[in-house]
Amino acid sequence: MKSEKLKELRIVHYGHPALREPAEQVGRVSGEIKALAARMIELMNEARGLGLAANQVGIPKRLAVVVIEDEPTVLIDPEMVKTEGSQKGEEGCLSLPRLYGEVERPARVKVRATNLSGKRFTLEGEELLARALCHELDHLDGRLFVDLVDESTLHWLVRTRNGEEPVIQPTTLEDALKVFLLAEEGARRR
Ligand code: NI
Repeated sequence: MKSEKLKELRIVHYGHPALREPAEQVGRVSGEIKALAARMIELMNEARGLGLAANQVGIPKRLAVVVIEDEPTVLIDPEMVKTEGSQKGEEGCLSLPRLYGEVERPARVKVRATNLSGKRFTLEGEELLARALCHELDHLDGRLFVDLVDESTLHWLVRTRNGEEPVIQPTTLEDALKVFLLAEEGARRR
């Protein structure tokens, strides 16, 4: 991918077909993949996210970036090796901005992935990291947190003026997804 094309990449929102596409294996870590990973880290940081999967920039390849101890970590062709226990907690997604809800996830996970040097490594995570790893690996299979969310906890977090507390607005899954689909449709027409 040319560098101009990389610059044009944006985080896509619910309704974009790449979010539902099972991603393809990456295999060899080419210069192109390294450049894509670097651009994804940039986009994740700009959006202040904790993770981003390639599907979310419209490229269904098995590549994700996750913040671990404040450092962005690149996961290529990641696989879930082991899960243990369970935890319930709030989740959101850069592809479904402002929408949050509780999702049940394993309490501890072990993931195997390839790094930017092409070496396989194993990563263990619990609590928030376990949740982030599950969330990003789900993206690579075309799965979103709204597929697993406890609908009774689903809500919009609406920020009003600077300095004011954000407002929590309960919503149904159907209504929330409609909002995103209408916005996507509008964006396509422009
Ligand atoms: Ni997400």
